[in-house]
Amino acid sequence: MPLVTSTEMFKKAYEGGYAIGAFNVNNMEIVQGITEAAKLENAPLILQVSAGARKYAKHVYLMKLIEAAVADTDLPICVHLDHGADFETCKSCIDGGFTSVMIDGSHYDFAKNIEVTREVVKYAHDHGVVVEGELGKLEGVEDEVKVAAGEGSYTDPDQVQEFVEKTGVDSLAIAIGTSHGAYKFKPGTKPQLRFDILEEVERRLPGFPIVLHGASSVPQEFVAKVNKFGGKMPDAIGVPEEMLRQAATMAVCKINIDSDLRLAMTSSVREHFTEHPDHFDPRQYLTPARDAIRAMVRHKIVNVLGCNGKA
Ligand code: G3H
Ligand code: 13P
Ligand code: ZN
Repeated sequence: MPLVTSTEMFKKAYEGGYAIGAFNVNNMEIVQGITEAAKLENAPLILQVSAGARKYAKHVYLMKLIEAAVADTDLPICVHLDHGADFETCKSCIDGGFTSVMIDGSHYDFAKNIEVTREVVKYAHDHGVVVEGELGKLEGVEDEVKVAAGEGSYTDPDQVQEFVEKTGVDSLAIAIGTSHGAYKFKPGTKPQLRFDILEEVERRLPGFPIVLHGASSVPQEFVAKVNKFGGKMPDAIGVPEEMLRQAATMAVCKINIDSDLRLAMTSSVREHFTEHPDHFDPRQYLTPARDAIRAMVRHKIVNVLGCNGKA
């Protein structure tokens, strides 16, 4: 099966009340851990690549790894640019074989966001590629862009119809209280998401696929393990899994997860070196790290996304 766009995946996910996992990839072990999990659960998959990932691993290496994963699993896999900053980055990924791109114009004002997004949509659609836009601003860190606490802003449902109509985007990322990274909510407070905004967006855009960024749940066992084996992570709080499950039954068709992959991998590597300080063969510590990613992604597919058996 060749690489696919997310069009068919989102249609089925919307109708079926589940979501597709969009997992960030940076190297071979991450690609393998995720795709092995999807294979075991027969789940459709989005593998997404950030500008930082392209800088770290090079576009061509990631593309070849993903092509290898398609050959190995025969699953429907969509390869997506995460947080495309400008037209040139999106164009380079479209020309380089991606089937989906995000143009993140959320830092621009409404009119400028429409303008840059529309330009990307035109080029992408001419090349058979789908586009995700964003309205509203998430807090947290992605690449060098940091949106400080208090400087994020929820999506305004009054803007979504006009944005989708004028840009022609295929899916829309919205801000309802999630944020990037491992520190999403203040320790001691109860995590809350604005489901009222999601409901209103769904009402204004019936049948239209919505995307949730910053959706790692930051399992406490990973944070505890990092700290048990020499790490120093402050209290980290993610999005409760039951909230993600609820969003998946609504208009949310794509749920972005990166921090949980990092935590699964790092906690495993830390544990390994504490228990085997004499090891220096990378295969010795990367094998359990890849296993930890596979287990975590299987859990997400079955218990959070609900896309098991939907490939
Ligand atoms: O939303 C951001 C993703 O976690 C990607 O992170 O830009 O550090 O690769 P990165
Ligand atoms: P997390 O940091 O919550 O994993 O979010 C990842 C993300 O939104 C990638 O675009
Ligand atoms: Zn994101």
